[in-house]
Parts: sequence; C-alpha cells; structure tokens
Amino acid sequence: MSEKCRIVTLDGPAGVGKTTLAKRVAQAMGVAYLDTGAMFRGVAWTLGEGSWEWDEERLSAGLCDLDFSLQGQGMDSELLLNGEPLDPAIRTEKAGLWASNIATLGTVRAFLKQAQQAIGRDVSLVAEGRDMGTVVFPDATDKFFLDASVEERARRRYLQLQGLGENADLDEISLQIKIRDAQDRNRPIAPLRAADDAVTVDTTGIGVDEVFSRIMEQIRKNEAQ
Ligand code: DC
Repeated sequence: MSEKCRIVTLDGPAGVGKTTLAKRVAQAMGVAYLDTGAMFRGVAWTLGEGSWEWDEERLSAGLCDLDFSLQGQGMDSELLLNGEPLDPAIRTEKAGLWASNIATLGTVRAFLKQAQQAIGRDVSLVAEGRDMGTVVFPDATDKFFLDASVEERARRRYLQLQGLGENADLDEISLQIKIRDAQDRNRPIAPLRAADDAVTVDTTGIGVDEVFSRIMEQIRKNEAQ
C-alpha cells in the first residue's frame, strides 16, 4: 500500500452505528468512505430475490454486469453502481437480509473483495463492513471492531426508522438482527469477527460522539508511532 493510501477499517454487526461513524471519521480525515454493506445490498437488490440460490453460471453472468465505483470524499462520498447512485430501497430490512443471504456465497465475496481492493488501491479510505480488517484490507493501518448488545442495536435501528417516518416494530427488528448476526458470524467464508490487531469498542451505553472521539484518538496515536 502506498504511503498516501491510508485505510481505516470499521467492522461490526448490524445496527452498531458503523455507517454514522465511518462517515464522520472519513470527513474528519478528509478521505473517502466506503460502505461495503451497500455493495452486498446493491448486488442482492439488483439480482433479486432468490439469487442466492442460482447456479454458478447464472450468478457469474449476473455479477459480470455490475461495476462499482466511488466518488467524492467524507460525507460527500458516493458509491455508484454502473455509474448510478444505489436504489434507496437497499436500506430496508428486507434488503439487509437478502444481502446477508448473498454474502454467504464465495463467488459474490470474491467479486466484491476484488472491487473493494481496487477502490482502496487508488484512494485513502474509511471502509466499513464485516471483513474489512480480516480479509479485504489485512494490512490496514487502523482497524476497529464495533460491538453493542442486540437490545441496544435494535433500539437504535427502531429510533432511526421512526425518524425516517417508517413503520417500525421493535420485536421484529430485534429478530431480524439476531438472524443476520447468526448468519454473518457463522458463515464459513469471511465470517464476522474482529481482526487480531483491531481495537474493539463496545458502544453499548456510549453516545456516538464518545465513540468517535475514541476512534480519532486511536488514529492519532497510530499516526504518531
Ligand atoms: O452493513 P450492512 O447491514 O449494510 O450489511 C448488509 C449485509 O451484507 C450484512 O448482513 C452482511 C453483508 N456484508 C458482508 O458480509 N460483508 C461486508 N463487508 C459487508 C456486509
């Protein structure tokens, strides 16, 4: 990795606040922000329901038509799929579950890993996902693993959906988070786990400002070393 391409990785389970933090850290550092969950969501949403059960040939043909790129920096970073912004529908809980389903497939993971590494070759990044520190950017300078209890994550997601004016059911959200956690942590390829050299931050009961400060402090410490 060249001196000027610095990679910060933020991994963790669904609803832990990775997106908010990754955007803020990218903004503070003046680098681009890469939401790799959005890439899995975009693939699942574009190929459609049940695509995780397609045979290899059909799946590979579908993936061939997908080209991801990243433009802008900080809060203005924008992920494009075939030159277009992603469909806002990828943010629904249903799309999250589809993404988790398709993320179990080796072909899809290999395809997206290559796309993610290609993006990280050209620009400095804050990359958030499940396997950024372990698989995609193992040489990253600054690795973080965010965690929080299921209850706290479900509550945050509930408030977020309510804020967006969407119908939200706390029990349903909690169940969906548990299903995704189990699937993301137990899959054989690139399961969700903290890299050995990641700093883990348990965000249960801690506000986003405090977590942001801790991350920035650690990044500054790493820089000074
Ligand atoms: O972070 P998110 O909720 O947008 O991610 C959606 C799903 O995509 C998640 O449940 C698992 C999958 N994913 C993954 O397997 N690896 C990543 N690096 C990012 C997301």
